[in-house]
Amino acid sequence: MTVPEPLESSVPPSSPEIKKPSLESRITGEISESDTRIGKDSPFVFGQRYLTQEEDVFSRNAWDHVEWGEKEIKHAEEMIAKQYNDPVSQEDKERYNATPEKFWNVFYTNHKENFFKDRNWLQIEFPLLYEVSSKDYGDKPVKILEVGCGAGNTMFPVLRQNQNSNLKIIGADYSSVAVDLIKKSESFDPEHAEAYVWDLANENGDLPGNMEPNSLDIVVMIFVFSALAPNQWNAAIKNISKLLKPGGTLLFRDYGRYDLAQVRVKKGRLLEDNFYIRGDGTRVYFFTEEELREMFINQIGFEEKRIATDRRLLVNRKKQLKMHRIWLQAVFNRPSENDTVETNNSSLSTQELMKKLALDDSDDEEDDGCTPPITCGCESCATGHSH
Ligand SMILES: C[S@@+](CC[C@H](N)C(=O)[O-])C[C@H]1O[C@@H](n2cnc3c(N)ncnc32)[C@H](O)[C@@H]1O
Repeated sequence: MTVPEPLESSVPPSSPEIKKPSLESRITGEISESDTRIGKDSPFVFGQRYLTQEEDVFSRNAWDHVEWGEKEIKHAEEMIAKQYNDPVSQEDKERYNATPEKFWNVFYTNHKENFFKDRNWLQIEFPLLYEVSSKDYGDKPVKILEVGCGAGNTMFPVLRQNQNSNLKIIGADYSSVAVDLIKKSESFDPEHAEAYVWDLANENGDLPGNMEPNSLDIVVMIFVFSALAPNQWNAAIKNISKLLKPGGTLLFRDYGRYDLAQVRVKKGRLLEDNFYIRGDGTRVYFFTEEELREMFINQIGFEEKRIATDRRLLVNRKKQLKMHRIWLQAVFNRPSENDTVETNNSSLSTQELMKKLALDDSDDEEDDGCTPPITCGCESCATGHSH
């Protein structure tokens, strides 16, 4: 595997001393007042490992909030420009786009549930999951859907610590092999969990299982939107919007533009701008904050609660390598029935907007593919995977 040239990180301005929650408080959920990582005002803090002295860079495995300067941007742009010399052929592109679920089936047949690590940071980055699964949440039933649930690395950490007897978490994935793994897992508690095979981007508006429209309180999408081709985004967001209750919340995390996984893509993997086929035939897109705003806010009319970029510098101390990782994280709300939402062109009520969506056929274009897995080799990335 080609290792990209290490980049120098720029030093962020002086950073505030923020206390990290103790492991105990993260497990028990008892959060002290001084703890700024969990709270409604600042949901995304992404850790507090600030690099203030460049010479300290190899003293840790990872640094948070690492700013990019012109040098880093230029390097990423040059590497990406080279990818256009060897794009995927039209014939292969059509092949990858025709049946993406087959490549995911092969992926889960090969890796079973052992590839992704459990997303144990979920309740810190998305405190809403923490609130609804606490025993004091109340008597109201709460329904969460995890779209693209894979082998359950997002769904199961929530389920395992759940103390709310009224909570149900439903997983849906296009890969039937992944859904089988979920159902066979010992963490799958049928009283609080369901799992279905479902294509998030289906254009018929089909919903998972026997789910009703407007029935979900929360939809979670962790590294799934990037598996869709840009021409599938619109259908996918319409399906999510159809499923969420008015006032319901969408929690999102995915790859950011110029992430190391994009910059180091090999020859012959480019499907279209910022969209690649991985070595295993799965596809990956790298987003910007502006693209998320355009799709979820301007085109569909969700409300933006927060969109943020998580920029980290991972360090392989043994090989003295620096690796810049970039992820996007967002929280959107489907507007309540009576809310008015601003779209690109006009101000529409939710009902008018939903009618408009139903009439607005999505464009048909072609699909695409993915990126090579990354073995950064750092101690905190024991599986060698890219996120
Ligand atoms: C990178 S994995 C993420 C899995 C899981 N969310 C996690 O955090 O571990 C992406 C998942 O999205 C699923 N996926 C890809 N395209 C999909 C689609 N159109 N509809 C539903 N799931 C899809 C894949 O099968 C795969 O399980």
